[in-house]
Amino acid sequence: MKIAPSILDANWQSLQGEINSIATADRIHLDIMDGHYVPNLSFGPPALKDINFPVETEAHLMVDNPENFFEMFQTLGCKTITFHLENTGSDKAFEFLKHLKEKNIKPGICIDGNTQPEELTDEILAIAEQVLVMSVKAGFGGQSFTPECMDKIKAIRARGFKGEIEVDGGVNIDNVSGLKEAGADIVVVGSFLMKKSVEERTSIIKNFQQI
Ligand code: DX5
Ligand code: ZN
Repeated sequence: MKIAPSILDANWQSLQGEINSIATADRIHLDIMDGHYVPNLSFGPPALKDINFPVETEAHLMVDNPENFFEMFQTLGCKTITFHLENTGSDKAFEFLKHLKEKNIKPGICIDGNTQPEELTDEILAIAEQVLVMSVKAGFGGQSFTPECMDKIKAIRARGFKGEIEVDGGVNIDNVSGLKEAGADIVVVGSFLMKKSVEERTSIIKNFQQI
């Protein structure tokens, strides 16, 4: 299983060291929250402008009007931009996915904990290169995993989606095998990894990658 650590729960006093400690991950996941779509604030590109990322980054935009923000994350170097179906609706989501693709960004669509996969139209699944399935309600790190996400993953695969399925929220080493069997390609791991010491992280990342 591929792993994308979220730096939401990193120690921001020594952020470069934190990032270096997860350099063997497949990707680094940036959780962007604006206090509107989710009741929480996180960080924006200025907080990361002096950081050297040793591995590809992806932005998970939990923000209203994601079309106003994606360019600053592309400038930061993000290869994948994922936004929420819940705050665009289907028509705008399709247009925005198309726009991201035209801008040479890997386009991703996220469904939040309460959203059913049937709300993703065939048109959206045909153009999205990543579907991010939340296994919690978006907004905070450290929440408990909801196993209902397994059925969502299976349903998306059953519709023939060939892109990447990523799972986000409450993922740990005990639930990752089930996610793989359900059809997921990559997991976002926040508190389970970032609450561990810097020295332990490379071997934890390897444990995920060996599943
Ligand atoms: C939640 C974020 C997640 C979260 C993951 O809204 O999108 O990426 O920080 O953290 P854990 O793994 O602690 O649930
Ligand atoms: Zn996330």
